Amino acid sequence: MKFFVDTAEVDQIAELNDLGMVDGVTTNPSLIMKSGRDIIEVTKEIAGMVDGPVSAEVVALEADAMIEEGRKLAKIAENIAVKVPLTWAGLKACKVLSGEGNMVNVTLCFSANQALLAAKAGATFISPFIGRLDDINLDGMELISDIRQVYDNYGFETQILAASIRTVNHAYQAAMIGSDVMTAPPGVIKKMAEHPLTDAGLDAFMKDWAKTGQKIL
Ligand code: E4P
Repeated sequence: MKFFVDTAEVDQIAELNDLGMVDGVTTNPSLIMKSGRDIIEVTKEIAGMVDGPVSAEVVALEADAMIEEGRKLAKIAENIAVKVPLTWAGLKACKVLSGEGNMVNVTLCFSANQALLAAKAGATFISPFIGRLDDINLDGMELISDIRQVYDNYGFETQILAASIRTVNHAYQAAMIGSDVMTAPPGVIKKMAEHPLTDAGLDAFMKDWAKTGQKIL
């Protein structure tokens, strides 16, 4: 499973990128707002740091304006994936922008039917939002599973990008189902390294090592 980092904070991207954990980056208008940076400037900086796709989201609501914004965002760097919302206008923009050779990430997906439309419109990525479904007491992971089945049934090449990942369990379940990609906040990716038995085991090893009186260096 590819790991995208869901942030516009360049320091956090750099730390994970140095470890080879970053296959791409996703941003959205809220993340740009939190970064306090100019969208073009920060997107250019991020795109220069990582090899993989960097999603930058349009903010227009009409198809023609989305297409113009998408073209401008795509010009920032070769690895930009233009992010459009899963509305009828967004699907039109997806069709045009993907037809022009751009990567397109269709975001705010909450049903398998929406994912099916995005694939037919030529989406490179579909972003089902797991956490936001869980927030309203629905099963976000069931949506990943449904989309996996629909895409496999018909051989769609659109990649499932599990988004709105809030917990390490979300990451685990998305990987078990066979999501192509997950995008998660840096904190969730780092937390995946943690296990209480690792901590307890290391503690016991350190205590026994101290009793040997030895040093390696
Ligand atoms: C994905 O591309 C979105 O930026 C993100 O995953 C949304 O996550 P949230 O629901 O935690 O805001």
